[in-house]
Amino acid sequence: MNRQKFITSLMLGLAGLAASAKKVSSLAPSPEVGGGCDGCNLIYEGMPSNLSNKAYLPGWTAGGKKLIVEGTVYRKDGHTVAANVILYIYHTDSKGYYSASPGQVNGKRHGHLRGWLKTGCDGKYTFYTTMPAPYPERNNPAHIHPVIKEPGINEYYIDEFQFDNDPLLTDSLRSKTENRGGSGIIKLSKNASGILVCKRDIILGLNVPYYR
Ligand SMILES: [Fe+2]
Repeated sequence: MNRQKFITSLMLGLAGLAASAKKVSSLAPSPEVGGGCDGCNLIYEGMPSNLSNKAYLPGWTAGGKKLIVEGTVYRKDGHTVAANVILYIYHTDSKGYYSASPGQVNGKRHGHLRGWLKTGCDGKYTFYTTMPAPYPERNNPAHIHPVIKEPGINEYYIDEFQFDNDPLLTDSLRSKTENRGGSGIIKLSKNASGILVCKRDIILGLNVPYYR
């Protein structure tokens, strides 16, 4: 989402200007991991107190084209599995809107198709949802927003899940991806039940500004 990225670009630009104006004082606060994020704090609105490494989003049982996404979360070294990492995901409905459900109070800006999970000691995760649609203007590929919350680090976003077979995902857009956490472009296949499945491993901190 471009507003989110805009804020990050702005923060990074301001940080660069400040650094070039004068040496950053050693007393200055450390920049936020990820360089800022508009809306990532909504991860906390309505977050269940107990999380497992599986999340079922509300669309899973409400019709629509089912989608299962799974993978493993690794530390920045790329091979040590990462436990206790919260992954928050949200996406548009089948018409391309972040539609709130009747009476929804928490996180309305992200719509009702939201979910949370937390990796266990093997770093694995799975979420069960439905295929998002592109925004109605069809000016952006279909996508699922992921936000990461690790112990001791502020929440930050990584590259959106996008679909390799999406005609809106042009070569130009592919070349502009930041690969935060690794590539978010996923290839769909079908399992034995005919449900769309895909896999994405996540490397914490990879291409994430100010990661420490
Ligand atoms: Fe979006």
